[in-house]
Amino acid sequence: MTFVVGENCINCKHTDCVEVCPVDCFYEGPNFLVIHPDECIDCALCEPECPVDAIFAEDELPDDQKDFLELNADLAEKWPNITQMKPPLEDAEKWNGVAGKIEHLIKDAG
Ligand code: SF4
Ligand code: F3S
Repeated sequence: MTFVVGENCINCKHTDCVEVCPVDCFYEGPNFLVIHPDECIDCALCEPECPVDAIFAEDELPDDQKDFLELNADLAEKWPNITQMKPPLEDAEKWNGVAGKIEHLIKDAG
């Protein structure tokens, strides 16, 4: 099993999650983070750290976010590793809870 970063991370990217991960398995894109499913050891430490509740255990992903499992696996192979917290994106508060954020996901590593 793995943990998965879900839709509410998009355009927020608080990065509190990376600080607690014992195996440094977060990868960073321009406006979203993902977890590498083959590296995650299922410790659950990151889930409560996210201020916008964007992280889920694989088997607790909401039905409308099931695609994020494959999306995390795919983008984790393309994006650079991130191990240290940084400031959130400028409009993070404004984007918290906005529906349909998947349309705003930037997949290029930049
Ligand atoms: Fe890292 Fe643990 Fe979160 Fe997996 S569950 S991403 S190992 S902190
Ligand atoms: Fe994203 Fe939450 Fe981490 S917003 S970067 S999953 S702390």
